[in-house]
Amino acid sequence: MAKALVLGGATGLLGQALVRVLSHRGWQVETLGRCDGNLQDMNFLQQRLEQAEADVVFNTIAWTQVDDAEDHPEEALLINRTLPDALARLLRSIGSGLLVHYGTDFVFGGNSGRALAETDTPCPASVYGKTKLAGEQAVLHELPDRSLVLRTAWLFGPGRRNFVQTILDACRRRDVISVVHDQNGSPTYTLDLALWSARLAEAGQTGLWHAANSGRASWCELACEAVALAGSPCRVEPIPGSAWPQKARRPAFSVLNCDKLAQFLGETPRPWPQALRDYLFREGGAQC
Ligand SMILES: NC(=O)c1ccc[n+]([C@@H]2O[C@H](COP(=O)([O-])OP(=O)(O)OC[C@H]3O[C@@H](n4cnc5c(N)ncnc54)[C@H](OP(=O)(O)O)[C@@H]3O)[C@@H](O)[C@H]2O)c1
Repeated sequence: MAKALVLGGATGLLGQALVRVLSHRGWQVETLGRCDGNLQDMNFLQQRLEQAEADVVFNTIAWTQVDDAEDHPEEALLINRTLPDALARLLRSIGSGLLVHYGTDFVFGGNSGRALAETDTPCPASVYGKTKLAGEQAVLHELPDRSLVLRTAWLFGPGRRNFVQTILDACRRRDVISVVHDQNGSPTYTLDLALWSARLAEAGQTGLWHAANSGRASWCELACEAVALAGSPCRVEPIPGSAWPQKARRPAFSVLNCDKLAQFLGETPRPWPQALRDYLFREGGAQC
């Protein structure tokens, strides 16, 4: 039986999905998070990695508060770069174990108007994007033969607050909500991403991969679909990003090209609206 150590597995949006999917596939799963000890303490981290004897370490821990990161660049760097860098170095010295780490579409900053592939040059516009890029580069550099970096985007799923849930909560309180229409990305279901992660890890894949559901959406389109599926009478009004000022700059177009993943899976990842239905109707996402 394969052994996994999932950092962030007890509390994170993706971490919880990974624990569930890996356990379901027969993996022996342990989690590690800040409630277990100080993850900045190298001795503690080394001890836990050695004890776990994991075939695969999945790191879902990240500073994911995109706007807060602008005010806390040092702290964001510690979590988004220093921690994955340390994990890669420690696993290299231990001499075994694959490290699966997660990146973000926010490493892209522009408005290319076409889906972005692993070979496209990143150009992050925010502290979050810059620190996440530094983290993925550190992992691939320190552990080139035993690391897998999956860049993903716009996650929704059970277990923790996410954009879809925020929208549906707002619809219960208001008749009209305003949502940005001029930022486009790749909405992705955590349980799908967890399944692709497991399959890639089981096959011993390494390197940089884009991993998202297929199709693209603006935040407004994603909100409209969720509101319609939930049967809410709330009206969703499209607004430009300029009318919703946020501290961090977001890419206008960060849709991910996942052809490499599709080739590995032997099929295109299912479209996000189909995954959203599963989340809302099978996982009770509409009731959150
Ligand atoms: N969410 C998205 O839309 C999205 C999009 C693209 C990429 N990603 C990437 O996907 C991965 C998973 O994201 P997610 O949405 O699952 O994240 P999440 O739900 O925000 O979970 C983050 C995890 O990191 C832990 N964490 C945060 N700060 C920490 C600290 N200072 N010390 C120790 N642990 C800390 C959290 O622990 P606590 O529960 O204790 O806070 C939690 O377990 C990340 O690499 C993220 O950058 C996410």
